[in-house]
Amino acid sequence: MRKWVFVVVFFLWSLYFQLTNCKNVTYDGKALIINGERRILFSGSIHYPRSAPDMWESLIEKAKMGGLDVVDTYVFWNLHEPSPGIYDFEGKNDLVKFIRLVQKAGLYVHLRIGPYICGEWNFGGFPVWLKFVPGISFRTDNEPFKLAMAKFTKKIVQMMKEEQLFQSQGGPIILSQIENEYETEDKEFGAAGFAYMNWAAKMAVQMDTGVPWVMCKQDDAPDPMINTCNGFYCDYFSPNKPYKPTFWTEAWTAWFTTFGGPIHQRPVEDLAFGVARFIQKGGSLVNYYMFHGGTNFGRTAGGPFITTSYDYDAPIDEYGLIRQPKFGHLKRLHDAVKLCEKALLTGESHNYSLGTYQKAKVFSSSSGDCAAFLSNYHWTSTARVTFSGRHYTLPPWSISILPDCKNVIYNTAQVEVQTNQMSFLPTNVKSFSWETYNEDISSIEDESFMSYDGLLEQLNVTRDTSDYLWYTTSVDVDSNESCLRGGKLPILTATSKGDAMHVFINGKLAGSSFGTHDNSKFTFMERIYLQAGVNKVSLLSMAGGLPNNGPHFEEREMGVLGPVAIHGLDKGKLDLSRQKWSYKVGLRGETMNLGSPSSVQAVDWRPVPSTQENTQPLTWYKAYFDAPEGDEPLALDMSSMQKGQVWINGQNVGRYWTINANGNCTDCSYSGTYRPKKCQFGCGYPTQQWYHVPRSWLMPSKNLIVVFEEVGGNPLKISLVKRSITSICTEASEYRPVVKNKHTHQNHGELNEQNVLKINLHCAAGQFISAIKFASFGTPRGACGSLEQGTCHSSKSLSVLQKVCVGRRRCLATVPTSIFGEDPCPNLRKKLSAEVVCQPIAT
Ligand code: GAL
Repeated sequence: MRKWVFVVVFFLWSLYFQLTNCKNVTYDGKALIINGERRILFSGSIHYPRSAPDMWESLIEKAKMGGLDVVDTYVFWNLHEPSPGIYDFEGKNDLVKFIRLVQKAGLYVHLRIGPYICGEWNFGGFPVWLKFVPGISFRTDNEPFKLAMAKFTKKIVQMMKEEQLFQSQGGPIILSQIENEYETEDKEFGAAGFAYMNWAAKMAVQMDTGVPWVMCKQDDAPDPMINTCNGFYCDYFSPNKPYKPTFWTEAWTAWFTTFGGPIHQRPVEDLAFGVARFIQKGGSLVNYYMFHGGTNFGRTAGGPFITTSYDYDAPIDEYGLIRQPKFGHLKRLHDAVKLCEKALLTGESHNYSLGTYQKAKVFSSSSGDCAAFLSNYHWTSTARVTFSGRHYTLPPWSISILPDCKNVIYNTAQVEVQTNQMSFLPTNVKSFSWETYNEDISSIEDESFMSYDGLLEQLNVTRDTSDYLWYTTSVDVDSNESCLRGGKLPILTATSKGDAMHVFINGKLAGSSFGTHDNSKFTFMERIYLQAGVNKVSLLSMAGGLPNNGPHFEEREMGVLGPVAIHGLDKGKLDLSRQKWSYKVGLRGETMNLGSPSSVQAVDWRPVPSTQENTQPLTWYKAYFDAPEGDEPLALDMSSMQKGQVWINGQNVGRYWTINANGNCTDCSYSGTYRPKKCQFGCGYPTQQWYHVPRSWLMPSKNLIVVFEEVGGNPLKISLVKRSITSICTEASEYRPVVKNKHTHQNHGELNEQNVLKINLHCAAGQFISAIKFASFGTPRGACGSLEQGTCHSSKSLSVLQKVCVGRRRCLATVPTSIFGEDPCPNLRKKLSAEVVCQPIAT
């Protein structure tokens, strides 16, 4: 009897446990409803393959610290299914582990399965074998494609279900995405596109995950799909049905970088303004793309010519360090919006005009909740407005948030967070003792695996097993040819559809040509030296990452498709395009896997003399080094080299290229509509100089570094550096606070007589402010690290800062501007900029 009672009690308990843990995710016109509760959600994209697994936990923790509720990631099909039916979910591909870490941090997951993901990722995430499935046509109403897509989607969903990872099973996944921004394609594909899009939606919904699906940038997404917005701003966006919530699945925190292009940054004041605009419009989910951009290790970058760094000017930088003030200013925004959550989700909203460019949006509920957003859309003028009988000052292009409809607790343009200046500093690994090995190109033809009468498309031959494909042919030159007797040198022209090419004549580099990210086609054209008799023409064609977007990107051709010709011979033009070419995929060093510790000894290495400067093309280097002391993130400074790839202990760091950034690096004002072109940095310097080496790839000693250089450079100057915070800065604008009633602690809305400013500086744990590097109250200019006085400057700036901050770990103070003595320029709005030095506390 007692046994029965026990069994029944146990059964009821487990039923209760299951019911309470089986959470339900639905939506309505306002928000996602998780377990019965509507939520305003802040989310951030962190792509698991763009960092080392050892970094995942800390990145997720930082996302949480930044006020995020959700971590969003794509699923990277080409990593998980390298060959048809062969799956890999181990180590750096351990998707389940990543999701569990998000769960452990108490955050939710938006799983963007795709499986087309775009994302500046090789082939948009598709495995290259997919291109070779007979009869396939990507992302349209095509049976072989749909079969493969459904199979992979099912594989992922099944795996998530088995691991109980959907919120409906008690797991962290609250949302899933199918496809990615299909709308642009679907217009090109007409009826087939529409049919495919509907098929994809249906296929996803049939997977029965228990959580909603989204289709981003798909205005005609069928029910129950939630169509969402991606962009720099999304306040213009409304979902296609009133009963769907307004989601922003990609709020671009800046933009990606291409080799040869500048770095794009997006001022946080503008990003915060965009987010506040979206929230006041009724938006209830914002995902920052990217919250941590990370690194395109190895050959994972899409292309062509997406840089190895995918930093994206994100709130967490490529190295996993918090980027201030971006991170802190957004965190304050999230906190402010959360204080308005109830009013936003339960209240009625009303718009009021406060001026030509100024508006108030008020959310108020019958239960007394009230939140207001006061906006000033003017690009340059500060506005003084009156709202509910109170006066408010609104900086240009900004929104103030009032969670009680009275007190401003946040303004998108007032950054009250310190800036961290990051730099690369030397480590104790001062230099490497290099040994070298040269690719032997004399035997390429013998090693060729095939020959063909004509020029072949590159991807069809390499199947992306290597970036490199050798095209080799021979040309007979008569000894009477006039170019051999002092006449003009002939010109070789070779047209390629992408992405880069080095030309060797009789084993000697004759020159190189490159396409660009926006146009991969180019024609090589150089005078060449020929010899009497047989001449070897060897073209090393290179892919710089496979395309990741555009209609039928699988059909895009690359490689030397010709014509290839020699001009200016005695008989005129000699067209080589249709003659016999032999083909060799990859480099010798790649075939021997020289980057790997287990096979590096396969060749004879020669020491590089310490006097050697520029070296020959197609050269491999190897060296060993001990892990640098400390725990700061590490990078390789490759500025002395030109173009190639680097491996550390067998792991491919990525493609490097020191091509200079070409762009228009003029001023970057936060106000006015943001476009990546508006805020460019680094013009005239290598687009990417530093290459991230995750600490976890290193052993305490005897780490192997292998470099393959295509053109030539000075390996002796390659150095291993550490990324550190070198100084911290504060910028504070003067403002006039609202007077508080002493008794009620309520703001009266009256302005104080005195202007004040808020200083906010703090050193890392174990450090204190030891000196003030720069301080100026007036109109200082420049960024942290390069601040300078403007025309207006108070001579007391430095002494005030020294008095208020030196010796402290945290210097948080609201000071009256009178502390700086006589007003240095009475009719101007002033600010304080300061840069301070943090030093470890002596033990
Ligand atoms: C979006 C796309 C993302 C990424 C982004 C640019 O359109 O959905 O995957 O490519 O552009 O970084």
